[in-house]
Amino acid sequence: MGYPDIRMRRLRSSETMRRLVRETSLSADDLIYPLFVKLGEGVKEPIASLKGSFHFSPDTIVTEAKEVASLGIPAVILFGVAGAKDENGSEAWAEDGAVQLAIKNIKQAVPGLLVATDVCLCAYTESGHCGVTKDEKIDNDATCKLLAKMALSHAQAGADIVGPSDMMDGRVGYIRQTLEENGFDEVAIMSYSAKYASAFYGPFRDVADSTPAFGDRRSYQMDAANIDQAIEEVAQDIEEGADIVMVKPALCYLDVICQVRAEFDCPVAAYFVSGEYMMLHAAADAGLLELERAMLEVHYAMKRAGAGIIITYYAKELAKFLG
Ligand code: PBG
Repeated sequence: MGYPDIRMRRLRSSETMRRLVRETSLSADDLIYPLFVKLGEGVKEPIASLKGSFHFSPDTIVTEAKEVASLGIPAVILFGVAGAKDENGSEAWAEDGAVQLAIKNIKQAVPGLLVATDVCLCAYTESGHCGVTKDEKIDNDATCKLLAKMALSHAQAGADIVGPSDMMDGRVGYIRQTLEENGFDEVAIMSYSAKYASAFYGPFRDVADSTPAFGDRRSYQMDAANIDQAIEEVAQDIEEGADIVMVKPALCYLDVICQVRAEFDCPVAAYFVSGEYMMLHAAADAGLLELERAMLEVHYAMKRAGAGIIITYYAKELAKFLG
């Protein structure tokens, strides 16, 4: 049977009809909102490279967390900006570090909001690399041990989810073992499993002051040309104890999201990163597209590809729009 018995346009005739037959849903339930925290008091500074985002101190972040929760968004993910950097990035696991204090304050004030954290050394090391360096090389196993310390300090502060974003081999296993040994068997690991070496992290590096002092991240983050490796990364992370796996960035890697969704029975997250976000803003500011429509379109694309969870700087706007 074909045209004219079948007329695809019948199901597109009104917004109500389109709503009825829509295959993919988008809701506040799917979203995680990234927040940036640094030491201090009363800080709420707009971040120029990431429109609509702020640097908060551990006290002011609570008001923001309350707003996020009131919009029905289930989780925030915290990124720390270091006060002092050193060779090993030791502020990353300090009990009184900005992230640790923020976790405590948020969990106390808004216990129902899930707090996830980014676990990576790049904002804390003098080198700006995601691990400790030895002769200008990243020492994988030494880094894993420090990441496990960092994740543990987040769990001790009350984090619900820890998110290793460094791309060292074996780090999920180290973190899982450390959490188990210390009685944090209920803390989930959301692993940045397939994290690509991407130009789209540009705006974020300003935000977290984490540009590498030498070289780049290609010896640990993935090559944009690969997908088989992404599947292997995900398989290993699940094997090592990850509860949620992530593909990052999102838009250039929808095929990866799709294949991960098809091959594994594990929640899949997509990270709509800073450069993707600012790309839409820049185009809208230039009068080239309608921001709201573009925002919806890209988030539907990630959901359609198979992402059940979306980490996005649009979380608040989306939640407001979706009601
Ligand atoms: C830390 C980290 C980065 C991002 C999240 N965690 C930067 C990087 O790897 O260079 C990027 C987030 C974004 O661009 O929105 N390793």
